[in-house]
Amino acid sequence: MKEMLETIPSKKIKRYLFRVSITGILYFASVFMSLRLSSFSDEIASVWIPAGISVGYLFIWGLKMFPGIWIGDFAASLINMDFSTATIVISTGNTAAYMTGVYVMKKILRKIKIFESPPGASVFIGTGCILPSLISSVIGVTSMLAAGIILKTMYSGVWWSWFLSNVTGTMVIAPLIIVFSRNFRRKGNDLMNKETYFILGCIVFFGWAVFWRDYSNLIILHALPFVYTPFMVWASFRLQTHGFVLVIFLSSAISILGTVNGHGPFSVYPAGTSIVLLQLFLAVIISTFLFLKAATRGMNNREEETLGIIGKAAEYNDSETGRHITRVARYSKLIAQALGTSGKFQELIYNSAPLHDVGKIGISESLILKPAKLTPEEFEEVKKHCGIGHQLLKSSDSKYLQAGAEIAYTHHEKYDGTGYPRGLHGEHIPLAGRIVAIADVFDALTSKRPYKEPWSIDNALEFIHSQRGRHFDPVLVELFLNNREEVRSICEKYRDISD
Ligand SMILES: [Fe+2]
Ligand SMILES: [Fe+2]
Repeated sequence: MKEMLETIPSKKIKRYLFRVSITGILYFASVFMSLRLSSFSDEIASVWIPAGISVGYLFIWGLKMFPGIWIGDFAASLINMDFSTATIVISTGNTAAYMTGVYVMKKILRKIKIFESPPGASVFIGTGCILPSLISSVIGVTSMLAAGIILKTMYSGVWWSWFLSNVTGTMVIAPLIIVFSRNFRRKGNDLMNKETYFILGCIVFFGWAVFWRDYSNLIILHALPFVYTPFMVWASFRLQTHGFVLVIFLSSAISILGTVNGHGPFSVYPAGTSIVLLQLFLAVIISTFLFLKAATRGMNNREEETLGIIGKAAEYNDSETGRHITRVARYSKLIAQALGTSGKFQELIYNSAPLHDVGKIGISESLILKPAKLTPEEFEEVKKHCGIGHQLLKSSDSKYLQAGAEIAYTHHEKYDGTGYPRGLHGEHIPLAGRIVAIADVFDALTSKRPYKEPWSIDNALEFIHSQRGRHFDPVLVELFLNNREEVRSICEKYRDISD
């Protein structure tokens, strides 16, 4: 115990120092990378990557990362400028600006997820991108003027380029850091599918065609930047947030590199104008599609929540805590995962398994809660819940409700054909129905019900095993038993509070 207490703080300090160093090194390196991303004149960087690194790392690792940012900024300024009070003021001003932006952003966000609702996206753009850029540009350019580094006549020009390059730098880089550091492990299995790679491939091809080639026809030239729009819309509606931020990053990187190398539609204008056009293009396209993505993500989240609530409502009398459907959804996803199905199928079964007993809404409560064995007539009545659930859900356009209809209809079918309502057998029973059958029976056995005490996990697993090829699909039973540790942890983690 004593040893543990001694090692915890030093581990924490080591981790803190490691993170500060990472932030500082990346900041320092990105200053030079940003300076190379300037067109014709070294004075104007098109995107200021350190701004995105600062906002990203302060957001995920906390404001205590500020020494990394200050040191990275100060070290980079010493290489570009002579040591003076202005360099210290600029580094301090930049660090304070990013800290203020992230502090305000976190205060407003609280429970709002940053890229999962329109308010989340607007808070990111307003307080994560615009606010710190405003503060750092005012402090930075004013101290350059005071130190005699720039003339008064240059103030507004330098201020605009500083401000815009900070805003675009944050918009391009910070979402990548925030999204990939937070959710990578949790959703690791279905992050990047074929569709994501296809859209990324299209972005590379059309990005090259637009931003790496030279055109002389003015009409074509002005229409070209819009080529990204359909792919951005596609990515906003279809991809995971991870794939989407990669699309943003890749399309930005291609357009920046093309423009600073003198190609593409913006490069036909004088140096300063072409950079400002690029920056405005990036700011408009990224903020627009971040909103769209956040809005679609928010809608999907609401749909998933609503499905969960409908499922809970149907089971409410049966399992007062409503956790039965949470466990059934997780066991079903586990089996689908073990079977090697696609991430999309796993997500589908996870969100539609809760609807399996929605038809119980149409069955008398006295039958569902009867603390004794049902008479044959009563059992016939209870069997109707499969058809009722199917009728309720089948005509919806939602993929979740359609899958829910299929599951409601087939979760009491048995592999040997002795189940109900249609007596289907073997592979004639849809896969989702075969999977949910195992999850539902296993959970019913291990839960307390009005008519029985819960079984132990081992006894319930043994029963499931004994029913392979009879009640259940033998392949799926094997997969379920092979993952008994995960089964056990779901059972224990989501246990009914009253058990
Ligand atoms: Fe059922
Ligand atoms: Fe159930």
